[in-house]
Amino acid sequence: MTRVVVVGDLMTDAVARAAFPLAKGGDTPANVTMHGGGSGANIAAWLAVEGIESAFIGRRGADIAGRNRDMELMGYGVDARLVMDPERPTGTCVVMVTHKGDRTMLSDPGANAALLPEDIPQDLFGPGAHLHLSGYSLLNEGSRKAALHAMQLAQKAQMSITVDGGANSHLKRAGAEPFLEWTQGAGLLFVNSSQAEVLTGRDNPEQAAKVLAAWYSQVVVKMEAEGALWLDNRGSEPVRVPAEPVEEIADGTGAGDAFIAGFLPGWLDGKPPAESLANGCRLAARAISHLGARPIL
Ligand SMILES: Nc1ncnc2c1ncn2[C@@H]1O[C@H](COP(=O)(O)OP(=O)(O)OP(=O)(O)O)[C@@H](O)[C@H]1O
Ligand SMILES: [Mg+2]
Repeated sequence: MTRVVVVGDLMTDAVARAAFPLAKGGDTPANVTMHGGGSGANIAAWLAVEGIESAFIGRRGADIAGRNRDMELMGYGVDARLVMDPERPTGTCVVMVTHKGDRTMLSDPGANAALLPEDIPQDLFGPGAHLHLSGYSLLNEGSRKAALHAMQLAQKAQMSITVDGGANSHLKRAGAEPFLEWTQGAGLLFVNSSQAEVLTGRDNPEQAAKVLAAWYSQVVVKMEAEGALWLDNRGSEPVRVPAEPVEEIADGTGAGDAFIAGFLPGWLDGKPPAESLANGCRLAARAISHLGARPIL
């Protein structure tokens, strides 16, 4: 089975769930919990618990949060290759969930924004391995050179490469054209519907996927409760799979990361897209049924 190398961000997520409507300028009782996070690290963790050999390359602070995040990844069985930043703290994301369940994130990348090309360990790049590059690493100017370097190493080693859209707001700031250029070399792009719209100007996910298929051999669009769709550039019919029903969404954070980890193994094994999409939706449903973006051990 293919070994997966993930290059991306590592964060601490502070999830605050308000019990009542937010008292602006005041104090609102909430349930506040701390979790391991970061899109790239989440994907590596979900892959490892699915029995896939996974490595994660990223940067942490020389702080207790960084040590905890490192140990957590090892606990999942991830080969964590974290470089310690002497100055910047481990990244932190404040996830605010209103009493109605709407989610707003405030993220401070900290050490993630200083990932350098020399932080990418070459020994992980070789034939038979796959690179998944988190869009966050490309979209953040500070880590972009390292992300592009990882893509070059993977191409030299003839590895397959997938990339994701990171976050809607970051994509908007960076611009569609630069992102499409940076990610040439990736065989498959994962985006959610909003990212697909930012990249193509189309609010219909299927239309957007068709436009994106001019840039990538294969495209997967994640569509929240609508599930996900896959399309290739060979003119075949798009494949759609519905989302798995979820009784109660405890915390939507990390659904997209779990989806990618669920999709990749089957896809790398050459299974039909419908099977990989369904497996993505299965892990995504697990991720949103509990608090935090990572699997529960
Ligand atoms: N409300 C929901 N009900 C059921 N499944 C859902 C729901 N929201 C998300 N999912 C599942 O999670 C997957 C990924 O979610 P989404 O489309 O929001 O991607 P994303 O934006 O990348 O993820 P995130 O919101 O975690 O950043 C969906 O394809 C679906 O399988
Ligand atoms: Mg989403």
